[in-house]
Amino acid sequence: KNIVILISGGGSNMAAIVRTAQAQNWAKQFNAQVSAVISNKADAKGLVFAKEHSIATAVIDHKAFADQPQPREAFDAALMAEIDKHQPHLVVLAGFMRILTPGFVANYEGRLLNIHPSLLPAFPGLHTHERAIEAGCKFAGATVHRVTAELDHGPILAQAIVPVLPDDTADTLAARVLTQEHLIYPKAVAELLAK
Ligand code: GRF
Repeated sequence: KNIVILISGGGSNMAAIVRTAQAQNWAKQFNAQVSAVISNKADAKGLVFAKEHSIATAVIDHKAFADQPQPREAFDAALMAEIDKHQPHLVVLAGFMRILTPGFVANYEGRLLNIHPSLLPAFPGLHTHERAIEAGCKFAGATVHRVTAELDHGPILAQAIVPVLPDDTADTLAARVLTQEHLIYPKAVAELLAK
């Protein structure tokens, strides 16, 4: 069972999944492995980690499709072509900062996951930690969910909750949430593989 992980930056969630797969021997337990890490950004730091762990990497630069009549669809088609080389059992979005077209989502329906840094359905979209602090929330967190055509709104698979402290900044809250993301994402993936 091949897992393909899509990143755009640091890839800390991808790294947590790779480390858990190795530590828990998913290859033996589930006949599963992370077979590729794909990014839309050539400078994504996570690509270095993937290479260091002998995982195939690829970059599909969304800017390369800007001049196409339908740039989003063209990018997604190129991304799907790369992903499908691995015939993925699961496609895992991990800090992947692109909104995917309905065609892409439909193609991977039922095997497409995302992690969002808020307690959905609260705070879909961007700048979730600033918004939680601004709203005076006492708690914040992260959500692992199946991806559907509606942004940040698919069926919830897992959540983690953290306190919002009086002196929190978006950065201090983000760090506290990220620590939890690194626990719930690998666990949610393992639970799906165990099914
Ligand atoms: C983080 O804000 C995380 O909450 C969200 O994407 C951002 C980067 O994550 N999922 P990663 O370190 O690239 O996994």
